[in-house]
Amino acid sequence: MGSTELKKIDINKVRSDFPILKREVNGKPLVYLDNGATTQKPKQVIDAIIHYYEEMNSNVHRGVHYLSQISTDAFEVTRRKVKEFINAEHEHEVIITKGTTESINIIASCYGRAFIGKDDEIIISAMEHHSNIVPWQMLCDEKGCKLRIIPMTAEGDLDVETYKTLFSERTKLVSFTYVSNALGTINPVKEMIAIAHQHEVPVLLDGAQAVQHLKVDVQELNVDFFAFSGHKMYGPTGVGVLYGKENFLNNMPPYQGGGDMIKEVTLEKTTYNELPFKFEAGTPNIEAGIALANAIDYINELGLEAIKRHEDELLAYAIQELSKVKSIRFIGTAKEKSSVISFLIDGTHPYDIGVILDKLGIAVRTGHHCAQPVMDQFGIPGTVRASLAVYNTKEDVDVLVAGLNRAADMLL
Ligand code: ALA
Repeated sequence: MGSTELKKIDINKVRSDFPILKREVNGKPLVYLDNGATTQKPKQVIDAIIHYYEEMNSNVHRGVHYLSQISTDAFEVTRRKVKEFINAEHEHEVIITKGTTESINIIASCYGRAFIGKDDEIIISAMEHHSNIVPWQMLCDEKGCKLRIIPMTAEGDLDVETYKTLFSERTKLVSFTYVSNALGTINPVKEMIAIAHQHEVPVLLDGAQAVQHLKVDVQELNVDFFAFSGHKMYGPTGVGVLYGKENFLNNMPPYQGGGDMIKEVTLEKTTYNELPFKFEAGTPNIEAGIALANAIDYINELGLEAIKRHEDELLAYAIQELSKVKSIRFIGTAKEKSSVISFLIDGTHPYDIGVILDKLGIAVRTGHHCAQPVMDQFGIPGTVRASLAVYNTKEDVDVLVAGLNRAADMLL
């Protein structure tokens, strides 16, 4: 544990780093509680993007000229920082992608194409985001393989005992989320990865809702593939990461064909580039790739332990205060939870609540949160979801509670 980890969050300083938090929405101060969808960006990240276009703009991995060299160097700094951030063994195990969705699709497409066939089985869970369901369904349609589903309890925990019984000789891959975007459940991933490994089955972990809240060490977890997005961790949109253990990535065919992923092309045959470039066809989102390093620096300076402590305190306060709202019903009450609170006000529709809150300057997400099977299990069309980040405060929670009381008075 570094000394920075022991620091307390200086909330005024943190808030002053995020220019958008000063704005008003519908004539009210913005209260931004939709961080599960995307986080706001600190000026350190915004400045890095401006700096790139004003001082560096050039293609990466292609030019001998100065601008291409410095933009390539900056892009590769990000890869190094990601390696350290998730404690990968090698830099070349870090593939820069468009985001979590693309990262999962790469595994479904490349690992799936090479190693999963007819009647093989893939295990996913009942709490997955659509991006960790649909790519596997597409693979099943193409290859004739099947999905097996880890069930979820009424509280929103994965049923690990049943998970243990889902393996067969045909199980080829397990893929599940670290933290549920719809419920906030933090899954016992280390234990679940070890169970898969007892059956010699590799695991893909969706870390989209984890890396901004929890310290992730891919070597300690011994996870085989790990996916996350920049924009949910105070970084830019359009950039994310696929981590994969070297031997798996080396044995997989490439994802897309194009520039950067080749070693040599003739009109008859192409040989592929080494890792990580084999999976990075085409010009990447360069400014976002570069500025992702600034987002990592930002998180590291605050310290993930300090961030988690702040968010956990806020989560406890929010649950305590929201519990007082008339007819509120929490959806997802797992013991280990990240700072996501899904709820309904019985007798109202989540969309109506969302619209009223918006008029009060409060941003929450309403609906199924791209996790329709979760909503189906609870027998509901959707929820209102407040998802907290490091810049949120007790005052934000108080404004939300007052807004919900007002909405309940209007609608019930
Ligand atoms: N996956 C994002 C969310 O949960 C978009 O809102």
